[in-house]
Amino acid sequence: MVVLPYTVAFLLLSCLQTVKIANSQSFLGINYGQVADNLPPPSSNAKLLQSTSIQKVRLYGSDPAIIKALANTGIGIVIGTANGDIPGLASDSNFTKSWINKNVLPFYPASNIILITVGNEVMTSNDQNLMNKLLPAMQNVQNALNDASLGGKIKVSTVHSMGVLKQSEPPSSGSFDPSYGDLMKGLLEFNSANGSPFAINTYPYFAYRSDTRPEILAFCLFQPNAGRMDGNTKIKYMNMFDAQVDAVYSALNSMGFKNVEIVVAETGWPFKGDDNDVGPSIENAKAYNGNLIAHLRSMVGTPLMPGKSVDTYLFALYDEDLKPGPGSERSPGIFKTDLTMVYDVGLSTSNQTQSPAASPQSSPTTTNTTNSTTTTTTTTSTTTSNNNSSTSTSTSTGTGTSTSTGTGTNTVTINISSSSDINKVYLIKIFNLGLLYGFTRLSLICLFFYYLQT
Ligand SMILES: *[C@@H]1O[C@H](CO)[C@@H](O)[C@H](O)[C@H]1NC(C)=O
Ligand SMILES: *[C@@H]1O[C@H](CO)[C@@H](O)[C@H](O)[C@H]1NC(C)=O
Ligand SMILES: *[C@@H]1O[C@H](CO)[C@@H](O)[C@H](O)[C@H]1NC(C)=O
Ligand SMILES: *[C@@H]1O[C@H](CO)[C@@H](O)[C@H](O)[C@H]1NC(C)=O
Ligand SMILES: *[C@@H]1O[C@H](CO)[C@@H](O)[C@H](O)[C@H]1NC(C)=O
Ligand SMILES: *[C@@H]1O[C@H](CO)[C@@H](O)[C@H](O)[C@H]1NC(C)=O
Ligand SMILES: *[C@@H]1O[C@H](CO)[C@@H](O)[C@H](O)[C@H]1NC(C)=O
Repeated sequence: MVVLPYTVAFLLLSCLQTVKIANSQSFLGINYGQVADNLPPPSSNAKLLQSTSIQKVRLYGSDPAIIKALANTGIGIVIGTANGDIPGLASDSNFTKSWINKNVLPFYPASNIILITVGNEVMTSNDQNLMNKLLPAMQNVQNALNDASLGGKIKVSTVHSMGVLKQSEPPSSGSFDPSYGDLMKGLLEFNSANGSPFAINTYPYFAYRSDTRPEILAFCLFQPNAGRMDGNTKIKYMNMFDAQVDAVYSALNSMGFKNVEIVVAETGWPFKGDDNDVGPSIENAKAYNGNLIAHLRSMVGTPLMPGKSVDTYLFALYDEDLKPGPGSERSPGIFKTDLTMVYDVGLSTSNQTQSPAASPQSSPTTTNTTNSTTTTTTTTSTTTSNNNSSTSTSTSTGTGTSTSTGTGTNTVTINISSSSDINKVYLIKIFNLGLLYGFTRLSLICLFFYYLQT
């Protein structure tokens, strides 16, 4: 067995990291909700997005002015049909066709529409009629796209809430609510047959709201914490985002659809709430979003899906001042409507030249590490202390599973039982980076070594 030594891997990685990072962070998206009366004009909006490393924007509807303003920017656009349109889309293919004629054809391909989400959180709406019509509606939208020769170019899906999972703890036991019966199976078959993603809204924020102990907060904010062991896999999870995404993966896997791509359609943290509110704060919002972005940029992936970052749409671009409900509902914005930042999480293109593992160390939310089991470090040069336990908690340096050399608090655990597994993780990562930045030869070499090890 040929073993690629860490040192070689580190060298290769360091080489890559000194190279200017192209703005190909295609996994970074953001939500643009419009329940507001103070939103900037579409052209300013487009300019703002272009000044960031955000590559995709998700609209809840199909506002033509916004779609048009994004023409020739390359920014991927997700548009949505309202839940109320689902019965019409399901029963009337003429209506579906005219929906595509009106909302897609005038703009595509100058405006890079990549996905149409049919409804939002329909499966947890308790509206059986709507739930029954969801799949036929998606099928009609797909048919209309196919008729317009856009099948495969623009994908069709729907967006779920985490409520579709009956169980999500531990992540390996993630499973869908069995009461959906064949409905969920039909949707997954649709995703699989059409190569469209399973889109889901995941909010570690809500997990914290239901258990407000400090250690849960640290787990949710990607900060140093004791981690959570998945007893089935012996994988120790170091953050809630990975745990939630892997729970979704396990649910898909249990239905035989592990190859369906997962997209996180919404995730975020409000920076302000009502007086009695726990959780919302600038500090927490900045820590969550900043550490999440660094985690995604590191390409570490989740323990069950290592070496890649799921497409993730931050919530949200701006506040929506007309939204009902608690104050936190109106305060998810990363940008103000005057286009300045509410807080800086390194989204600006001027932050792109740093390593993909942008360090969130400037965050004011430095936590007390004296009591954490994983000590993290922000330097790249610490040597690996190869701990032999079957689940090795990876600090960014400890086990060498991570290129996220700078992400002090961004610890992800991968089940590493041998050094060859560690090497494989490296190889996958270098392979991906090579592809990402056009070092094809490097990728091929990695592939070669990878197969030597398997
Ligand atoms: C759809 O439109 C076509 C022509 O525009 C028409 O002939 C057909 O009856 C319509 N179908 C329905 C179900 O409305
Ligand atoms: C994790 O490692 C343990 C011990 O080596 C092994 O039994 C288990 O199957 C592994 N889990 C995964 C998901 O690889
Ligand atoms: C992003 O870049 C700007 C300008 O170089 C810098 O002031 C800011 O601190 C950076 N933000 C982060 C989070 O790295
Ligand atoms: C960190 O934790 C230790 C022990 O729990 C405590 O004594 C110390 O004051 C804490 N430091 C901060 C900055 O919270
Ligand atoms: C660590 O945290 C636990 C619970 O959060 C607490 O009981 C314990 O005293 C802490 N230990 C130290 C050394 O601070
Ligand atoms: C492995 O790590 C654990 C916890 O971090 C520690 O208790 C143990 O002594 C380490 N084992 C070796 C062989 O270093
Ligand atoms: C890991 O454990 C195995 C046996 O369990 C031992 O042979 C090996 O030397 C250990 N390696 C390290 C780096 O501790």
